[in-house]
Amino acid sequence: MSPISLFTTLSLLSLITAQSLTVYKAGETTATASATTSAASGTYTGLAAYDPTVLTPPSPPSQAVTSYTLNLPSNGQAVLDGGYSLSIPQKGNFLGFSVELSIANSLMGSSSTNMKVPFLNYMANIQNRAGVGPIIRVGGNSQEGSSVFVNGLQDGAVLDKIKVSENPTETPLINYSLELFYLMANVTSLVGADWYFGLSFNQSAVDDPTGNVPLAAKWAQDILGDHLLALSVGNEPDLYVDHNKRSSGWGMSNYVSEFDTMTQAILANNNLRDTTAFIGPSTCCQVVGFELDDVFNAGWLSTNVDNLAAVSVQHYPTNNCKINGNIINPQDIFSDFLNHTSAQAQVSPYLTNSQTVQGVQREFIMLETNTASCGGFPGLSDSFGVALWMTDYALQMAWGNFTSALMHVGGQNVYYNPFTPPPSTGGGGKQWTTGSIYYSTLVIAEAFGRSNNSKVVDISPTTEQDANNIYHPIYAIYENDQPSRVVLFNYIDDQSGANDLQTTINVGTSVTSVSVRYLRAKSVSEQYDITWANQTLGTSFSSDGRLYGEQQTVSINCENGNCVIPVPAPSIALVFLTSDSLSNSSPQEGSKTEYETSIVGTGSATVDKQSLETSNGQNAKSGLNGGTSKGSASSSSALPQFAFPTKHSLGIFITFSTILLATLI
Ligand SMILES: *[C@@H]1O[C@H](CO)[C@@H](O)[C@H](O)[C@H]1NC(C)=O
Ligand SMILES: *[C@@H]1O[C@H](CO)[C@@H](O)[C@H](O)[C@H]1NC(C)=O
Ligand SMILES: *[C@@H]1O[C@H](CO)[C@@H](O)[C@H](O)[C@H]1NC(C)=O
Ligand SMILES: *[C@@H]1O[C@H](CO)[C@@H](O)[C@H](O)[C@H]1NC(C)=O
Ligand SMILES: *[C@@H]1O[C@H](CO)[C@@H](O)[C@H](O)[C@H]1NC(C)=O
Ligand SMILES: *[C@@H]1O[C@H](CO)[C@@H](O)[C@H](O)[C@H]1NC(C)=O
Ligand SMILES: *[C@@H]1O[C@H](CO)[C@@H](O)[C@H](O)[C@H]1NC(C)=O
Repeated sequence: MSPISLFTTLSLLSLITAQSLTVYKAGETTATASATTSAASGTYTGLAAYDPTVLTPPSPPSQAVTSYTLNLPSNGQAVLDGGYSLSIPQKGNFLGFSVELSIANSLMGSSSTNMKVPFLNYMANIQNRAGVGPIIRVGGNSQEGSSVFVNGLQDGAVLDKIKVSENPTETPLINYSLELFYLMANVTSLVGADWYFGLSFNQSAVDDPTGNVPLAAKWAQDILGDHLLALSVGNEPDLYVDHNKRSSGWGMSNYVSEFDTMTQAILANNNLRDTTAFIGPSTCCQVVGFELDDVFNAGWLSTNVDNLAAVSVQHYPTNNCKINGNIINPQDIFSDFLNHTSAQAQVSPYLTNSQTVQGVQREFIMLETNTASCGGFPGLSDSFGVALWMTDYALQMAWGNFTSALMHVGGQNVYYNPFTPPPSTGGGGKQWTTGSIYYSTLVIAEAFGRSNNSKVVDISPTTEQDANNIYHPIYAIYENDQPSRVVLFNYIDDQSGANDLQTTINVGTSVTSVSVRYLRAKSVSEQYDITWANQTLGTSFSSDGRLYGEQQTVSINCENGNCVIPVPAPSIALVFLTSDSLSNSSPQEGSKTEYETSIVGTGSATVDKQSLETSNGQNAKSGLNGGTSKGSASSSSALPQFAFPTKHSLGIFITFSTILLATLI
């Protein structure tokens, strides 16, 4: 954790306090917004998600390296003989999304019959490449303080945010209804999503665990079935005391016993279809005495393993929280994200844990991550350079035997979103803003493809092999013991061509040509003019979640088994070594999913003129009130609402109400 090691113990403590503070009241201006004024543009006052700040790219290294020869191990044994290690089999949906509960409706839809099409398209792009739907977590800080599962809300709403506090660390009160699970189920029926869902874990819920939470657990399982991967119990419990969610003195052993109280209460209800149901502990922040190792050493894993579907951690490499009045200047840390050392440094602390978890046959999930807590950084979190970094970081996590990794999605006042709906209640049409890191999910989906059986190895050059090796990481993917794809990075920002790299891949004489797709932009600082295989999701306020432009796959001829792959500075080149590996990663014409209307379901689209007025990224109305998550738009919807469908018959609702009454009163 290099950024943290820079601080004294005292400020480290307050840094931890401020980590992952993702819930704010609407319209407030905090560290994230003030940081904008100290960054390059200096004049922008609108919402963070559309901030046009562009940073200065770091200058290229003093000496250019323009060629490298990769001796690609010819099979799994050769990988080991070379001193490398292959990961567990990975799927194309490895890199997914973590959606803050408080904005689930503004991202996905106002009800199960009003789903937001751009969101579906962003998800379908992954399904079309990976063969499996995306992995999505709904939860976060807002699941925790006081989310309450209720039997229906006014107007059939998915969720209501009730309390708006002046204190930004205080989470809002959220009532969510069965309709949220139906909405999630319908998203699954269209784009195959699998889910993690966060249960409430506040003090009173733990003190009286017999009522609401077991009901939420039961209904989540009943409605989502096998598409519910796990229910999360606790979100960053290592920060509870700092966030005033528990009183001082509360610590790791209290978490372990509260986890037990809560999960046993849920299981005692005998309502679960699947008792391998939970995921935890989602520790995040290297709090001494409360790290994953400490939780394991307390016996948590062995005690709970039968009821655990997976083990989770959450991690942000740095933060944009105001600490003792200090705000990190994004320009100062941009270069930290622009070489392979960062990806390695983020993942290496977890390598022993991942072995332990694999040892008990459980999945190891990075349940929430992104560039920086407290909203990310202007010009950095939304840069092309960080799309390179996120791809590197994801591949490094996959190599380190994480099972999946989920990028956090917040409201309009964060800089790091992979996609952001317009600040309106409509949200249909081509008005969404694509964040650079969304492209990383496409590269990962194609790098692993649809076999579910892609093992990855980090075969980056050493300093001896390439003096600029930190800018030139390389990963290879093996399927059925054969190399199928290679991912080549060039982090260097140099439009002159002087730092373009020619990488020769030794593939064996039977191969006469390979195919290459590029992730490209002219600079690591670029925000929007980014292409994947020559297709783009465009600039701010212009996306419907579909890729536009003509897809370009470059064919490279090989001589005597040597294929020379140009890797421009900056770019990622994904090399498909066989035609099967290319078709196994490509959207299949005829069977691919895409939505052209603006709303899927029985609702009709309404477009808020306000969102069009802000389409130049200026004068955005800050804090479209009603939201309590930082920057989330109002959930009071102007869209027509519909009664629960007949499929979920009245009978179920009577039963449900009865259970609710029986257990709550
Ligand atoms: C905690 O959550 C439960 C339901 O899970 C809710 O009934 C209760 O009001 C919450 N407590 C607080 C203090 O917000
Ligand atoms: C929502 O939450 C508030 C505050 O806890 C509560 O008074 C209200 O009855 C809840 N239920 C519904 C259906 O709105
Ligand atoms: C590479 O990244 C590391 C870790 O993020 C950072 O400490 C280092 O300064 C970077 N190196 C250069 C040359 O920018
Ligand atoms: C990942 O798991 C595989 C399979 O068990 C193992 O061989 C490999 O060493 C692990 N990798 C790391 C980095 O721990
Ligand atoms: C990949 O796994 C999914 C389940 O996650 C399954 O539905 C699909 O059929 C698998 N694909 C292959 C090629 O085995
Ligand atoms: C890239 O896409 C653009 C825009 O659709 C198209 O005009 C161009 O021909 C494409 N380039 C290649 C090489 O396919
Ligand atoms: C969504 O869910 C409801 C059931 O909750 C169902 O009737 C409806 O057809 C589903 N699909 C769409 C596209 O709305």
